[in-house]
Amino acid sequence: MRFTNFALAAFSMGSALAAPAVHQPHARALEILSTATTTVTTVKTTVEGELQSVSKLVVSIGAGGNSTALVPQLEKSLLSIAGEVTKIVGSVLPIVTEGVPALAEDELKNLPDLLNGVLSIANGLQSTATQIVNGVGADVLKAVKPELQLVLSTVEPIAKPIVSLALGAVVDITGPVVTEVNGLVGDLEKVAGGILSPVTDLVSKIL
Ligand SMILES: *[C@@H]1O[C@H](CO)[C@@H](O)[C@H](O)[C@H]1NC(C)=O
Repeated sequence: MRFTNFALAAFSMGSALAAPAVHQPHARALEILSTATTTVTTVKTTVEGELQSVSKLVVSIGAGGNSTALVPQLEKSLLSIAGEVTKIVGSVLPIVTEGVPALAEDELKNLPDLLNGVLSIANGLQSTATQIVNGVGADVLKAVKPELQLVLSTVEPIAKPIVSLALGAVVDITGPVVTEVNGLVGDLEKVAGGILSPVTDLVSKIL
């Protein structure tokens, strides 16, 4: 009995060591993809909560609430959002830097979730930023301008590696997943490249 366990342990250790090097980047890519999907899901939940706080603060400030008390809370929420969103880059960048291996269709099940999560975060940032620009007075906008610019500037750096990851992973396959991934990549590129620019321009014009 003991000997069998030992032999099994030795066998599995031996095969782990003997695993061909060529499989390792692939396994690592799957691991990073899975970690990145978890990170995006967690970040999305946190950011949605913070965006709701921001919305409430904007409504209070717009309704004539005490901005001396409310503006620092707004700034704090915006900084926290920027910090959260930036966590996504850290989880995805290793796979992009090391080179994205082409994956098989059944390995791509996380990819639409990952893309949808990032897309939803980007859309949430866009609509909340627009709400701030339209909902508070010039003095408050001036005060929160740096934090707002920081938040808006996080979208492109997360969209780029996510897009590289998605396009690299589907390079070898065709089928419904690829169509879905390509559609989501298009949406994400639109948000990062176009939809955000009107509000980014508005914010940059705040004096
Ligand atoms: C507004 O908030 C500040 C900081 O909390 C406080 O010192 C001040 O008394 C408040 N002003 C009014 C009018 O409530």
